[in-house]
Amino acid sequence: MLKLPLSLRTTMCLLFLFISFNSGGKLKMASAQRTWCIANPLTNISALLGNLDFACSHVDCQLIQQGGSCFYPNTPIHHASFAMNLYFQVMGRHSSHCDFRGSGLISLTDPSYESCSFHSEGDLAEAPPSATWCVAKPGSGEYILQQNINYACNYVDCSPTHDGGSCFNPTTLINHASFAMNLYYQTSAKNTASCDFRNSGLVVVNDPSKS
Ligand SMILES: *[C@@H]1O[C@H](CO)[C@@H](O)[C@H](O)[C@H]1NC(C)=O
Repeated sequence: MLKLPLSLRTTMCLLFLFISFNSGGKLKMASAQRTWCIANPLTNISALLGNLDFACSHVDCQLIQQGGSCFYPNTPIHHASFAMNLYFQVMGRHSSHCDFRGSGLISLTDPSYESCSFHSEGDLAEAPPSATWCVAKPGSGEYILQQNINYACNYVDCSPTHDGGSCFNPTTLINHASFAMNLYYQTSAKNTASCDFRNSGLVVVNDPSKS
């Protein structure tokens, strides 16, 4: 028999236990993976507000109202992402439930931050695509977004986000930071650590690029 180090054997056992426990006997690898839905950082404000209205007509958006634990940051991208995620979860996590006319991204990382928790019921209803990208958490503050830009742009070419560049619009920190963070992630080993950015990065399974 193949000799594995004890720690690896223990890990594998725990993994299988986890898989079988989660799938009610049916062995299904993806069951260990929770998924969330967020808004693409390239989405303009009118589309974000449209998504917010649409999702909140189906799910309870109390937590993003004043006094709720997810009210801050009070930005359209964060509020829309929160509502889009709840809609995605309630509808059963098919990729079509995170489409929002091409403005939704399915995340493999939990977008929760501080006291704001993004609900997840489990994995994507169908097999996720194998390619991944990295974007900033919709709830990230401006300070950390700027820090991520400063850090990542030391290593990658951020000129497309400069005035006149193809990724200049929308001129928001979250768009420019996501561009830089993704390029850093793509040019590094693409391991989860290179999209961590002190817990402000999300690994997503849809291409955030637009023409
Ligand atoms: C916002 O984006 C939507 C969808 O991509 C587009 O149809 C609309 O024209 C855009 N609105 C503005 C003001 O740019």
